[in-house]
Amino acid sequence: MATKNNLDAYKENHDVQVIDTNRKMRVAIIGCGWIADSHIASYLNQPDVEIVAGCDLIPGKAAAFFKKHGLEGVKTDYASHKEMLADKSLNLDCVSVCTYNRQHAPCAIDSLNAGLNVLLEKPMCVTLEEAVELRKAEKASGKVLSIGFQPRFDNNMKMIKKIVESGELGKVYYIQTGGGRRRGIPTPFGTTFIEDKTAGLGALGDIGCYALDCVLNAVGYPKPLTVTGYKSAYFGTDPSYYPNHPEYAEKFTTDDFAAGFVRMENDIILDFRIAWAMNINTPGDSIILGTKGGLRIPSTDCWNGSIGGPLVIYHEVAGVQTETIIPVQTTPYNLFDMKIRTFLDASKNGTPAPVPSSEIIYNQAILDGINKSNACGHEIKIEIPEI
Ligand SMILES: NC(=O)c1ccc[n+]([C@@H]2O[C@H](COP(=O)([O-])OP(=O)(O)OC[C@H]3O[C@@H](n4cnc5c(N)ncnc54)[C@H](O)[C@@H]3O)[C@@H](O)[C@H]2O)c1
Repeated sequence: MATKNNLDAYKENHDVQVIDTNRKMRVAIIGCGWIADSHIASYLNQPDVEIVAGCDLIPGKAAAFFKKHGLEGVKTDYASHKEMLADKSLNLDCVSVCTYNRQHAPCAIDSLNAGLNVLLEKPMCVTLEEAVELRKAEKASGKVLSIGFQPRFDNNMKMIKKIVESGELGKVYYIQTGGGRRRGIPTPFGTTFIEDKTAGLGALGDIGCYALDCVLNAVGYPKPLTVTGYKSAYFGTDPSYYPNHPEYAEKFTTDDFAAGFVRMENDIILDFRIAWAMNINTPGDSIILGTKGGLRIPSTDCWNGSIGGPLVIYHEVAGVQTETIIPVQTTPYNLFDMKIRTFLDASKNGTPAPVPSSEIIYNQAILDGINKSNACGHEIKIEIPEI
């Protein structure tokens, strides 16, 4: 059950005041790896959820996963996610897609086609073409597709958006964003994050998508028009990076550093860089420059969904150039619980997805554009069909 504090905090911060516990949402999980633990923990914090099924490509993994979480009677004897989705006896309402990136689009599209509401982990998928197919499936199904960006619920992220929307910065024309780690290629549970066949995108997709969402959500997700992109993998492909697993170097087939220069509609320029590993502590704070003010968003050493210190607005007051410091805001609830709760509410009430694919498709278009521009070695046009 949810802790009283979490639910109370939720009610204070969201439109839905009462959770209808008479109507339980029947939920399944596709992909029972690391992040599925967080999904289950947050579903179990909700008073209106029944976890009824789950599947994983690795035989026995789903059964062991639910056992670990103390859940009995969850159906897991499926050879594939398709077999699970075809099991009408489950009477499912919602599914969390927690697979590695390459399996995001197929699993989410099949789930939408089966008439389910889908919470899809970040990044949305690997390519723009997949994102377009996801949007089409969502539209045809009439169901909710929400993308798993829990930092959206952090009060500091909300403050960044509020500052931009207040007009305090004037017209925004230049954004610098990104971040990264000095050494932080994620291999604690094997190689699914670093291999092209499972992840598709490396640091670019894994933490790059968060850095983009932080600023693009604030400025209203302008459409990206062109991009020049670059990627490298100097650390990931070096066996000495992994003293205990030198064999990972050969498996490393994604990127550990990426950068991009993006022109967006409304005459906004985006300058972006992201790293899982680099020889510097940070590639710089995020900044949003406007005609009346500039905002500094201190970088974190890893994307944990928040900010590295107080926000600073640089502006002019009565002719004096001055700085206004916005103290770091606390967030009185668990971000993951909010990601799950807002998804459940949208699914129950047929209201818009809390993190809509109509926005995140632009995030995906930038990741994909950097990838494609890197491959061809020059700037490319981003073309997103109307859906
Ligand atoms: N929101 C967050 O804070 C956060 C944090 C970590 C990871 N993630 C995202 O979650 C996703 C999964 O990451 P992870 O660390 O759990 O990876 P993981 O490799 O630990 O787990 C993925 C699981 O999915 C299974 N799988 C893949 N395709 C499948 C299919 N078609 N049907 C059933 N099972 C399938 C794999 O066998 C594996 O067990 C990634 O896309 C990652 O970006 C999000």
